[in-house]
Amino acid sequence: MTAVGIDAVEIWTGNLKLDLPGTFAPEKGEDPEKYTKGLGLNASSFPDSYEDIVTMGANAAHRLMERKGLEPDDIGRIDVATESAFDNSKPVSTYVAGCLEQVYESDFHHANKGERKFACIAGTQSLDDAYNWIRAGRNRGRSALVIATDTALYARGDDGEATQGAGAVAMLISEDPNLVELSAEQGYGSADETDFLKPNQQFPSVDGKRSVQVYLARMREALEDYESVAGEVHPDDLVFAPFHTPFPGMVRKAALLAYRHITRNTEFEDELAEEIGRQPRPEAFDSDEEYRDALREYMDLLKDTEQYAEWYDTTIDPTLTIAREVGNWYTGSVHVARASALKHALEQDREMTGEQLLVGSYGSGAQAEIHSETVREGWAEEIEALNVDEQLAERYEMSWDDYEEIHDAHNHEMDVDVEEFTTPSEEFVFDGWGRMGERKYRYVE
Ligand code: CAA
Repeated sequence: MTAVGIDAVEIWTGNLKLDLPGTFAPEKGEDPEKYTKGLGLNASSFPDSYEDIVTMGANAAHRLMERKGLEPDDIGRIDVATESAFDNSKPVSTYVAGCLEQVYESDFHHANKGERKFACIAGTQSLDDAYNWIRAGRNRGRSALVIATDTALYARGDDGEATQGAGAVAMLISEDPNLVELSAEQGYGSADETDFLKPNQQFPSVDGKRSVQVYLARMREALEDYESVAGEVHPDDLVFAPFHTPFPGMVRKAALLAYRHITRNTEFEDELAEEIGRQPRPEAFDSDEEYRDALREYMDLLKDTEQYAEWYDTTIDPTLTIAREVGNWYTGSVHVARASALKHALEQDREMTGEQLLVGSYGSGAQAEIHSETVREGWAEEIEALNVDEQLAERYEMSWDDYEEIHDAHNHEMDVDVEEFTTPSEEFVFDGWGRMGERKYRYVE
């Protein structure tokens, strides 16, 4: 069977930066270490006043098409995953195609376009749709463009304000891909939950503490479901595990659970037994409560072992490097984590061809999905082409007053005009409103 997966990726970060320990924490009267150590974040990226989900998505896609030498005719499908859409009918992908058509001579009139919604997991679901479309033989030799784009803003004063972010990830899904092949095997953990939602409102209603528990519960279900089709996961099977990263501290919690799960009944558990005992098994306890207490105790000990710390440092920590500087990108977040890990491998001169990634996506509401990816021969060339470090370094750093202004500028309920902080160059920008309330865009040379 021909491999199908991600051929190329591009990242577009919002052009503004908010320093969380340096600027946000003092204004909130909080200890900066809550951000750096607790949540694991240094900064959030924000869109300038001329940026939104369309410009960021179109800019990422444009860069990707240029780099790969693609024309609109090479693309048979454009799916945008977002939870920041501003229209209940017209999909963001039509706006993105409209932008791209300004800079190419041909058009996307024969490409199937859509918008995917299931909170942050929609980016991965769009990958699935593209994968299935190619596997079904309906692509006529063409590739799919999947764009995950979000302005992950929370209402001022909401606990989630600390984890905001904005950016887009564009991915090209093709046969015989350069970057990673997607596994046919997948596992799901899905339940009707009200942890985070936006009932016809821009900013989310969030039960923050509960959302953390729901993330962990659904991710565990997804892992068990994945193992039921792919066989038990062993720590040696995977080189990196990119997870959905609303903030790195969340992944720290998920990783500990995952490690306990994948080391059960392995030599890793045997090696740890002398130091912290064996993992508690439910059959050894009279009540569920006693079992849960014992599990908690085991996890506390496990967290402090050298064996776990070493696994975390090599398998998980490299997935979080970019997230630390940009915050949550919702649908793009897990795809940023994959890029972050591969970028780390490249910087370490590590050969990755044939290695496995275990990818854990999550969307509130709630659903988790686990699949694996096999790194392909062209991975290093693709990752080398990323200019994310330059983009991060070039962001304008906002003062607290700037932040208050820009948050208002992106608040749909407010009608404020804010001067741009940066000067756009070689990118699409928001250019005002049309007669039917549609957004207009233009390309700035
Ligand atoms: N030094 C070191 N650590 C510190 C600290 C200090 N001075 N002060 C606090 N901390 C630690 C806390 O102990 C805590 O860590 P643990 O959870 O490991 O105990 C961490 O920093 C955060 O502190 P708080 O819990 O006090 O922070 P908070 O009350 O402001 O809320 C939050 C945190 C609930 C995650 C909030 O940011 C939030 O609601 N975020 C949005 C929802 C979210 O992202 N949920 C994640 C799962 S849902 C999902 O993944 C979908 C999605 O993308 C939204």
